[in-house]
Amino acid sequence: MWMLTLLLAFPAVSPRGAVAAAHPLAAEAGASILRRGGNAVDAAVAAAFALGVVESRSSGIGVAPLAARPDMFVVDGQPRQDLANSGPLGVAVPAAVKGYAELAKRFGKKPLSQLTSPAEQIALRGYQVSISFVQSSQHRLDCLAADPEAARIFLRKGEDGEYEAREPGDKLIQPDLARTLHAIGEKGPDAFYKGRIARSMVEAVASRGGILSLQDLARVQVRERRPIESTYRGYRIVTMPLPSSGGFIVSALLNLLEREDPRAGGYRPERFLHVMIEAEKRLLALRQKIGDPDFNPGAEERVRGMTTKEFAGELWKQIGDRATPVAQLVQAEHGTTHVSAVDEEGNAVALTTTVNDGFGSCIVPKGTGFLLNDQMDDFAVAPGVANTYGLRSGSENAPAPGKIPLSSMAPTLMFGPDGSLLLAIGSSGGATIPTTVAQAIIHIVDDRMPVDRAIAQPRLHHNLFPDVVRVEPNGLEAATARALEQRGHQLQYGGERFQDHGPGFFDTVWGKACAVQIEPDTGWRVAACDFREDGGGAIP
Ligand code: DON
Repeated sequence: MWMLTLLLAFPAVSPRGAVAAAHPLAAEAGASILRRGGNAVDAAVAAAFALGVVESRSSGIGVAPLAARPDMFVVDGQPRQDLANSGPLGVAVPAAVKGYAELAKRFGKKPLSQLTSPAEQIALRGYQVSISFVQSSQHRLDCLAADPEAARIFLRKGEDGEYEAREPGDKLIQPDLARTLHAIGEKGPDAFYKGRIARSMVEAVASRGGILSLQDLARVQVRERRPIESTYRGYRIVTMPLPSSGGFIVSALLNLLEREDPRAGGYRPERFLHVMIEAEKRLLALRQKIGDPDFNPGAEERVRGMTTKEFAGELWKQIGDRATPVAQLVQAEHGTTHVSAVDEEGNAVALTTTVNDGFGSCIVPKGTGFLLNDQMDDFAVAPGVANTYGLRSGSENAPAPGKIPLSSMAPTLMFGPDGSLLLAIGSSGGATIPTTVAQAIIHIVDDRMPVDRAIAQPRLHHNLFPDVVRVEPNGLEAATARALEQRGHQLQYGGERFQDHGPGFFDTVWGKACAVQIEPDTGWRVAACDFREDGGGAIP
């Protein structure tokens, strides 16, 4: 056990490629494909399928069903966030399987059956559940226990006959999921979106009063989008566009911080952190007014406009010496996971996928072994009502048929001033994703940290609501904390789950960033995930 811990705590390094994933078995699944001649895309897809087994998250960002309506979460005039994040109405049409298959077909070298195979093997042989799995299932115990299939798979019966969370180290074997993966590998995505599995999904949702239909599943399409591009001190940043807000926040935050001296007076100067916090608040206030560009004419251009240096200059001018109360900035009114893979040729993938909350909607369609998401919670339940991650949005992000909910995911690539690839990074963590990615980039560019240290540095995060700066443990020295308080920032240590969540999830650290860095001098690929959580790197 000690040896294992020791191995996981170090980054994996090789000149021939590397894979970082939110679970070490998934990283190894990706590396095994590189070993067999696959490229970074093959490796990322294999790792993503494996994450669906070992992180209990398989279906990725969804699309609203055709029967979705803006007021579907308002009952008797009351917004019901609970309906969006557990149970049948929370389920968005799962789209990731289609995306993975399309990626492999267009850019990979290996047949899909080889890419689903490592995941299938892990599901059949089983794996030992981690502390964070147990904590996450404890947190969602009632939700999981309410679904017979989810309870049977992810929980265990206690001495009193009631379902309870498993223990760390318990072996989880998932034969139904192995069968689903096998079918996808053999027959392609149609095995998932049509036929037995599709009917089981619809039946599971419909029998509980939800609105997912066979037509919704048959209509899932892959949409290719142009990434957002910007620079940070000469390094090129390529990141995710709408319908995620994550990429524009990463770009805009870095544009603003470029105007500050990151080492004025030493590591993490207080003025730099003040500007970062003030920028986060302003960007999250802007985020409240955006949504799927297919449903919001002009949103695409508006958001790209927010990633320019001119826009950053305007925002920077608004930042004074003191903290601006959030009330002045707004008008009145751990189910994500990441893979980064880089191969010997220099192909790189940053892939973030989500079922939203840990265990998604807690619904497992009978016989399929996978969880349906609760991605509908990324929509505005009602204008101005906070979602699970404390994020509020408006009519731009109201549910509508076929609309994609506003995400915070921020898979990002970074290139050096000479154009060479330096980093493939991403993170989980809901609203904290873009601030996590931006802070890792700052540590790599400004503080010259190796990737494993950069992504494990304690982080700060302002969520707009509540109006406090959340600080991870050991995140600030006393003098810096005092100076920030003197500017009017209210600090909250250790984090706290937003909304109705009990202690645990955000209590210590938030976001699990994973990245592959390319050492400019040697060309070595260095894979690492935040070692404060489970996650790992592997090499071919
Ligand atoms: O797409 C989003 O922004 C959310 N569904 C992300 C949720 C998440 O990161 C949960 N994991 N920690």
